[in-house]
Amino acid sequence: MNKDTVIRVSDLTKRYGEILAVNRIDFEVEKGETFGFLGPNGAGKTTTIRMLTGLSKPTDGKASVLGLDVNSEIARIKKRIGVVPEISNLYDELSAMDNLIFMAQLYGVPSSERVQKAEELLRTFRLHERKDSLFGTFSRGMKRALTVAAALIHDPEVLFLDEPTVGLDVVAARSLRNLISNLRRQGITVFLTTHYLEEADLLCDRVAILAKGRILAIDTPLSLKAKTDKKSLEEAFMKLTGLEPEVLAIEKGK
Ligand SMILES: Nc1ncnc2c1ncn2[C@@H]1O[C@H](COP(=O)(O)OP(=O)(O)OP(=O)(O)O)[C@@H](O)[C@H]1O
Ligand SMILES: [Mg+2]
Repeated sequence: MNKDTVIRVSDLTKRYGEILAVNRIDFEVEKGETFGFLGPNGAGKTTTIRMLTGLSKPTDGKASVLGLDVNSEIARIKKRIGVVPEISNLYDELSAMDNLIFMAQLYGVPSSERVQKAEELLRTFRLHERKDSLFGTFSRGMKRALTVAAALIHDPEVLFLDEPTVGLDVVAARSLRNLISNLRRQGITVFLTTHYLEEADLLCDRVAILAKGRILAIDTPLSLKAKTDKKSLEEAFMKLTGLEPEVLAIEKGK
């Protein structure tokens, strides 16, 4: 067992009645890696993040984060991870600053450090001038940025981001991507889901391609392109997920 493995998933399964949302998946994420989960709508990406962050119990299989079991040690995991959900978990009726302070309290950041930490994040995320504005009055991009900032308030070792740049304009998305690549430089392990293949190609060391709850491929963007003989990750993705007729011919030829 590699001691630098931060996320370890084996045979992980989630069933909702008849629906097999996640179907016996296996993967590992190493310390400091930025790992992307790609897949069409309904593939099971959010369900996987929810199981890894204690929001949903696996039906079967095993998962650990930072060497701790998601079923029995979730409270200890939560202290050391940051989560940016699909829909923001911040409060519309609180200011940007108060949202960060609230999250800092929740995560047990010592009271003497809360304001300074919040100020620092507001500066990094270029929201300092608006620190006293209510979250509810923020634009979509500003909301997303503050949600990511809030997930970092307790200096997590792993950050989970569910579609971080969805709905953002080109400039806002780019700036958020830069912030995410800075996290990688700081040695933070990042697990993200995205529909933007170019984004995954830019940010991720490795990606898993998921469809109908199953992992179809896990590799670096470069090798996925090489293996499928495609120039872009988008074309490789289309081929691997079978969203391209050509894949049928390949499978038959095997
Ligand atoms: N709470 C739930 N109850 C019943 N079914 C659910 C629930 N959550 C997810 N599902 C089902 O599980 C499957 C996977 O959903 P999930 O949200 O994980 O997909 P996703 O890959 O995140 O998709 P998207 O790209 O649209 O966000 C879907 O068929 C969905 O309907
Ligand atoms: Mg989702």
